[in-house]
Amino acid sequence: MNSQRKRVTVPAIRAMKGKSRIGMLTAYDYPSAKIADAAGADILLVGDSLGMVVLGYPDTLSVTVDDMLHHTRAAARGATTALLVGDMPYLSYHVSIEESVRNAGRFIQSGAHAVKIEGAKQSRIRTIEAILDAEIPVMGHIGLTPQSVNALGGFKLQGKNADDARRLIDEAVALERAGCFSVVLECVPTELAAMITEQIAIPTIGIGAGPSCDGQVLVFHDVLGIYDVHTPKFVRQYAHAGQEMQSALETYLADVREGRFPDEEKESFHMASDEELKRLYASREDQTSAGGVVVEMPKAQ
Ligand code: KIV
Repeated sequence: MNSQRKRVTVPAIRAMKGKSRIGMLTAYDYPSAKIADAAGADILLVGDSLGMVVLGYPDTLSVTVDDMLHHTRAAARGATTALLVGDMPYLSYHVSIEESVRNAGRFIQSGAHAVKIEGAKQSRIRTIEAILDAEIPVMGHIGLTPQSVNALGGFKLQGKNADDARRLIDEAVALERAGCFSVVLECVPTELAAMITEQIAIPTIGIGAGPSCDGQVLVFHDVLGIYDVHTPKFVRQYAHAGQEMQSALETYLADVREGRFPDEEKESFHMASDEELKRLYASREDQTSAGGVVVEMPKAQ
């Protein structure tokens, strides 16, 4: 990709609606952000999915603000072009509006350009409005909201029946009216995502929401085939990097055990000159005659 690309901004993302599809990925650290940025991602999300794919938890609920900020700072150093969105974790915007605004501000101070918040009930809309009032752009997220996994009874498709679908349309409209610059639609029927996309003027970004959305997002580790604990139906793996990484590591370990790594020339260093080596051994001999350890000089140098 062209390294001269300009930084993607919130207004630029809004302006992409109906013009060009938005490509978004998660990224959790310097290398993943650098690679996804160089690949041309428009938006990088430091998702709380890091709880599962990086930290090994069964869900996202154990992730803290401090965990997220640590990863946001690292990703910010790798993302030089993409818009960087920080995902506010469970309990960081649930207790009070004041605490929510302060937490959102910490993401911005850690290098994010915007935050993402799950849900759109009335109290959540008030929180979102307060965060926006602090000049922090907000990306909404409705449908399957993983932080509500216990209330939803599992990671399930949302909006399957007309009433539920109607509620999600109303939520998307409420997020748009509140001032969100985009909204993630996770795990909802294609028909519903198409309807929402048509009805609101801000971009929809789908994950398991079919092809009609204004953009798509997938988890970095899913796209590359690094995380194999659970692969949802909506994931397309573009590589099997996990397998490739394991087999590379197996080869390295076999090379270490068989003495094939490191190579004495290609991967090793030598003394500045034979003269220096001789001086070194002479000094060891002096030490030996004074009662030290005997070290023999190698024959060929
Ligand atoms: O945490 C995450 O990765 C997300 C995206 C998948 C939308 O919320």
